[in-house]
Amino acid sequence: MIIIGLDIGGSMTKSILIENGEIRGSVQVTASGPLVSAAGAIGKITEDLGVELSSIDLISCTGGGSREIGSSFLGLKTVKVDEIEAIGLGGLALSGLSEAVVSSIGTGTAIVSVRKEGNNVTTRHLGGTGVGGGTLVGLSKLLLNRSSIEGFFELARKGNFRNVDLTIMDIVGGPIGRLPADTTASNFGNVRDGTRLEDIAAGLLNMVGQVIGTVTYFAAKAEGLEKKIVFIGSLPTIKEFSEILTSTVSLLGGNAIIPEMASYATALGAAIKAKKQIKSLFK
Ligand SMILES: Nc1ncnc2c1ncn2[C@@H]1O[C@H](COP(=O)(O)OP(=O)(O)OP(=O)(O)O)[C@@H](O)[C@H]1O
Ligand SMILES: [Mg+2]
Repeated sequence: MIIIGLDIGGSMTKSILIENGEIRGSVQVTASGPLVSAAGAIGKITEDLGVELSSIDLISCTGGGSREIGSSFLGLKTVKVDEIEAIGLGGLALSGLSEAVVSSIGTGTAIVSVRKEGNNVTTRHLGGTGVGGGTLVGLSKLLLNRSSIEGFFELARKGNFRNVDLTIMDIVGGPIGRLPADTTASNFGNVRDGTRLEDIAAGLLNMVGQVIGTVTYFAAKAEGLEKKIVFIGSLPTIKEFSEILTSTVSLLGGNAIIPEMASYATALGAAIKAKKQIKSLFK
């Protein structure tokens, strides 16, 4: 049995191919309209793995763009999986946890609580924030004249957020309680004339990571799951960003996991959901 999990996101489309319960491969393509991206992601993964299109049993679609997919696509049977459920299932599968708060950092950010009891998995959309990967891309275009995420990170790696953020050290000259001296007191609160683009980029990365880390922590804390936070999506796979997420969460008293295949968690969740339903699908 071969299933492709397909996550047609606002920025990128991800596909993952599962054969007899094992992940055989994954690819991502940049979004250029849902149908083109879906065809591209399916075409590339089958080519890469040398799998015949006709041997695919099912395409399980999720993500905002999946609304444009009908009951079959490229002659293959399709099902649609609610994105919140896919986020929860994928986050659990990749983290190995049986309960968690999964924060999906895509173009925007969605926060989901998920609990598994026996074969039953319940997911709940806790909320989220419009601050996400799209925010970085947009502000990078506006403020830094960089339209690609690679260009943005190239700048950010050469910058230092301490040159734009106001830290606790700047205000009180040392740590406050459990907060170390270099904790941000105000993002961009210390900007001076002639600030370098590199430092602005580092400050943006810091602000976006801290906002998402903080919002996720409080959502997880309200669920009693602050020690079981899982970040997924494309951005958390970038080391500099993942470090901001994990340090923000741990400073607040939580614990964050970023699974290796974080970009593919939602696509995997879609495939897992379809697999659970497989008997009824093929009746
Ligand atoms: N090659 C890349 N590696 C890591 N991050 C990237 C890459 N390209 C873009 N990004 C960042 O990741 C964001 C997209 O993340 P992701 O693919 O998880 O979102 P999406 O699933 O398309 O969006 P959503 O879930 O909100 O519909 C972009 O907005 C950008 O900030
Ligand atoms: Mg997504």
